[in-house]
Amino acid sequence: MKAFSALACILSFMQVVTASIPDKIYGVNLGSWLVLESWMLPAEWQAMGGQQCDDCSQCIATEFAYAQAFPNTVDANFDQHWSTWFTQDDVNQLAAAGINTVRIPLGYWIVEALVDRQTEFYPRGGLSQLKRGLSQLKAVGIQAILDHHGLPGVQTANQQFTGRCTSDVEFYTETNYHRALIWTAVMATLSHLDSDFGSVFAIEAVNEPIMNAQQTPGYGDFQNNFVRVVRAIEIIMGIPVPGNALSTPITTSNFTAAITTAINTNFNDYFNDEVRSALQDSIPILEGLANQLNIPAIFDFHLSSAPLNSSPGKQLLTTNFMDVNWQYNNPANPASVALGSQGYDNHLYYSFGGVADANEDAYLSSICNLQRVQQDASQGDSPLWFGEWALSTQFSASDDFLVKWADAQKLAYSQGQGWIFWNFKTETSTQAGDLGRQWSYLEGLQRGYLTQNPSQLNNPSVCDPYR
Ligand SMILES: *[C@@H]1O[C@H](CO)[C@@H](O)[C@H](O)[C@H]1NC(C)=O
Repeated sequence: MKAFSALACILSFMQVVTASIPDKIYGVNLGSWLVLESWMLPAEWQAMGGQQCDDCSQCIATEFAYAQAFPNTVDANFDQHWSTWFTQDDVNQLAAAGINTVRIPLGYWIVEALVDRQTEFYPRGGLSQLKRGLSQLKAVGIQAILDHHGLPGVQTANQQFTGRCTSDVEFYTETNYHRALIWTAVMATLSHLDSDFGSVFAIEAVNEPIMNAQQTPGYGDFQNNFVRVVRAIEIIMGIPVPGNALSTPITTSNFTAAITTAINTNFNDYFNDEVRSALQDSIPILEGLANQLNIPAIFDFHLSSAPLNSSPGKQLLTTNFMDVNWQYNNPANPASVALGSQGYDNHLYYSFGGVADANEDAYLSSICNLQRVQQDASQGDSPLWFGEWALSTQFSASDDFLVKWADAQKLAYSQGQGWIFWNFKTETSTQAGDLGRQWSYLEGLQRGYLTQNPSQLNNPSVCDPYR
């Protein structure tokens, strides 16, 4: 009986604690779900009416090109994709595999009001699917990172993962930074006020910006504003932010009204014009979503499942950036703008070249001596996790090698906060061929490259010969 009441007590306590960074991240990306990358599902894409071509800007290879080509069917066809690419069955398999974290790539267009429908074309309806998926993940205790993966204006040239293949990169401009900040305000609000978002512990500002920092003017200011938008939302909710408090308490429980009050009475000391303007512009969008998706807590935030002003209450979200060493040419260091919990992300793929010679020994000796965690930590970029990696290689890899390759990468990335594999799955089809062997976590698990318990290795001494 005593044990029972202790358990009941723990359970009720757990309901009010928002997710925080796992002690060690064992994760997968939910890639090609809400940002579709057609190379990962060639047969489905073709069946939908999409195309493949060498220069992805020249055919229907992305969401943008598809929505432009098929304005009348795009929403229904994408809804079908969203419903089938990531399902309850996938959630169950990930939970059974001991996965504790997912990183969810998202486009700016999931906040539909941000899309200029005269010049920009994307499917509608993704947010309901995100809510559905997050609630399924929450039910099995898997935590989530909301990853801003396709930025307004496109953050890097000719990549399917931005949602639009183009050489015209316009993200690094005032207008598009502003739209990304509004997106951030909306996602931070939903993360705290919509119970479906209860497993979200982090929001990542920008997936894979251009590496040459000379081509990303203003990105440092954007990083600063990103952190401050998230924290402003949290201060309004009464969640303690280091060094920041409201001089005048907020009396309304209508969250969008509370933003206005804070902007007009409290925020001048802490938050610059751009942050306040992004908050202001998020108000009508939040009101629209509250009505459309039935999120009453936006109008009465005391309804939110967690008590906002009490302890144990909601925790700060973790603000998340690609690490400083992602870029070169004197990049801004996101560590310099941290305010409360912040985490850093690096992506490491050997298969695209430039990391190690294309042979087994070179790969293993490179990964077994990886210094990235230490280098980042010396610049304040800690905790660091590896938010994308795979078993892909530039050479034809044997099964024996892939066992070592999986072990050695997991070992290296676990020196930091952990790892998030790209991807949770790929399509199984004739067109996809062997794709899943080196790109699908669930297939790698079946094949025995990856271990059933993600914290373990097939051979913990895999790196000994290379050190
Ligand atoms: C909440 O406040 C906004 C002003 O920001 C107002 O437009 C809206 O009608 C209010 N909603 C409710 C349900 O009180």
